[in-house]
Amino acid sequence: MSVLVTGGAGYIGSHAAIALHDSGRRVVLLDDLSNASAAAVDAVRVLTSSDIPFVEGDAADVGLVDDAMGRFGVDEVVHFAASKSVAESVNEPLAYFRNNLGSLLGVLAAMEARGIKRLVFSSSCTVYGEPEVVPVTEASPVAAVNPYGVTKLQGEQLLDVIASAGGLDVMLLRYFNPIGAHLTGSIGEDPTGTPTNLVPLLMEVAVGRRDRLQVFGGDYDTPDGSAVRDYLHVVDLAEAHVAALEALASRPGATAVNLGTGRGYSVLEVIGMAEEVMGRSIAYEIVGRRPGDAERIWADPSFASEVLGWTAQRGLREMIQDHWRWCEAHPMGFETV
Ligand code: WQD
Repeated sequence: MSVLVTGGAGYIGSHAAIALHDSGRRVVLLDDLSNASAAAVDAVRVLTSSDIPFVEGDAADVGLVDDAMGRFGVDEVVHFAASKSVAESVNEPLAYFRNNLGSLLGVLAAMEARGIKRLVFSSSCTVYGEPEVVPVTEASPVAAVNPYGVTKLQGEQLLDVIASAGGLDVMLLRYFNPIGAHLTGSIGEDPTGTPTNLVPLLMEVAVGRRDRLQVFGGDYDTPDGSAVRDYLHVVDLAEAHVAALEALASRPGATAVNLGTGRGYSVLEVIGMAEEVMGRSIAYEIVGRRPGDAERIWADPSFASEVLGWTAQRGLREMIQDHWRWCEAHPMGFETV
């Protein structure tokens, strides 16, 4: 079996590439490197001791994707290629719709032309917006509240229609908050430009690239007043993609699955864990809330356990330890490789 991983040089894509290789699959990476480094491909090749093919280009380019599928005998696809910053999507909604829906449509057109039916789609807990009730299950109401979340929700709806017509068997994986890095510290999150997510910014403070962290809101109705999220180790997340492909063999149609630990941590708890792991204090100041942020969201992971036979294995300490190992060794990301 040969699996095409679009966005395969990215943070989650590169970790998934390793897990898919370790499952015995031939992996093919495709990435336009708009938010990733070719050094990540080299690192994946070293970690898998294999010369994994890499196709540089846009997943929206049907001809490119079709050619890659033909050349490498692809019979299943994991689709990550998309822009993923909530904040950026608010400023550039059209760019997000063009890229995120365009890349999905490009992949689907190539799959249809080649009769490929198995797809794992990278979705997001942002489809739940600000949930009334936590933990959220897959039956919780969906209400995307920013353009990024809308592209993920529309992607799911589009896939649901195609799957219902019998054209596709697809897992819609709704990620909560991925953090952490491969145990070796040789691949990890390397945001292009200024990060917006909590842990990459916290790590920039830790390596001295940033003076202090801003905590967005200290007046939420949570135990310590800061917002709560379900942080998930990226290697656990990568392994869930292998389980999702395996599950497709016996699960036709479209299936949405939450990928989280089922445990929420507040921003201040994450900072506390980082200070404990690193043995140093992290300078921060509590400022106003960030528009669009949910107060609290974490997953009910029971459906993932039932359908995928998957549960997260790694706790917050290990997530921070592994993320720190990567950042301490690569304070400027892959640029320093
Ligand atoms: C986490 C918490 C912030 C930065 C992300 C992705 C989204 C989805 C889910 C995959 C929030 C607080 C942050 C900072 C802070 N993942 N924070 N200071 O917004 O939950 O969503 O994960 O699809 O795509 O965007 O993640 O890391 O931005 O924020 O206090 O400098 O940290 O307010 O409570 P978020 P985040």
